[in-house]
Amino acid sequence: MNLKNSPMHYGFIAKCFHWGTALLFLAAYVSVYYRQWFTEAKTPENWTALQLHLSIGVSLGVIVVLRVIWRKMNETPQPEPGTKLEHLAAHMGHYALYGVMIIMPLTGYLGTGVNTEFFFLFDVPKFEDTWLFTVVVQDFMGLSFKTFEAPIDFIHKDIFGAWLVWLLILGHVLAALYHHFGKGDRTIKKMTTGKP
Ligand code: HEM
Ligand code: HEM
Repeated sequence: MNLKNSPMHYGFIAKCFHWGTALLFLAAYVSVYYRQWFTEAKTPENWTALQLHLSIGVSLGVIVVLRVIWRKMNETPQPEPGTKLEHLAAHMGHYALYGVMIIMPLTGYLGTGVNTEFFFLFDVPKFEDTWLFTVVVQDFMGLSFKTFEAPIDFIHKDIFGAWLVWLLILGHVLAALYHHFGKGDRTIKKMTTGKP
């Protein structure tokens, strides 16, 4: 099994990044909606679900940095035959997904008023307690945390969390299924078995 990508398929590490990220995205959604729909405010379950969401989100933030570095160190497998427009759409879609993978953890972290108890192992201090907040947001921009947090929360929850992320992932999955079942090409195989 190749660790690195080849012209024919993604390597083991890129596959782990891809499917690990997909699972963690699902877990981030399950934890936050479990909290909102199935727990009462101020109960231990409510806090645990929130902390799981924060821990998963922070993990995704770290993983995306490693993933981008790994991508830069590797060739990208050759695209399947298609029109220029299809290739452009695939590129844009992948860039947008990388954007989401960066924006969601970033806005989540910047807009959260509690520490992340990282899987209950150690604390990651909240942004409000960092020197960056004091120097940039408080002193330079002259904003309180409440004023700073409001638009960031809106992006995290209402624009991206509730809509954009779902739409992008849905489009991405439909495109993958269309390649596999509609065009019968190797797009899904490149990210799974790697078989011809
Ligand atoms: C890729 C990573 C992430 C995804 C996909 C994600 C997704 C979401 C979604 C869908 C919501 C609920 C939106 C709604 O109320 O309708 C939410 C809420 C929230 N997120 Fe994230 N998030 C991520 C990372 C983070 C991170 C890193 C943090 C903080 C360290 C964070 C903190 C929060 C908080 C505090 C809420 C509000 C929880 C509540 O009101 O129940 N998120 N997130
Ligand atoms: C069941 C869910 C998913 C399926 C079936 C799937 C399928 C695929 C396939 C087949 C490829 C290879 C495309 C190509 O080479 O042209 C791919 C690439 C990619 N996927 Fe997914 N994916 C899923 C979920 C996700 C999620 C949740 C994300 C991120 C939030 C994501 C982000 C990406 C990115 C960024 C690439 C481009 C990789 C690169 O070239 O660096 N995928 N996906």
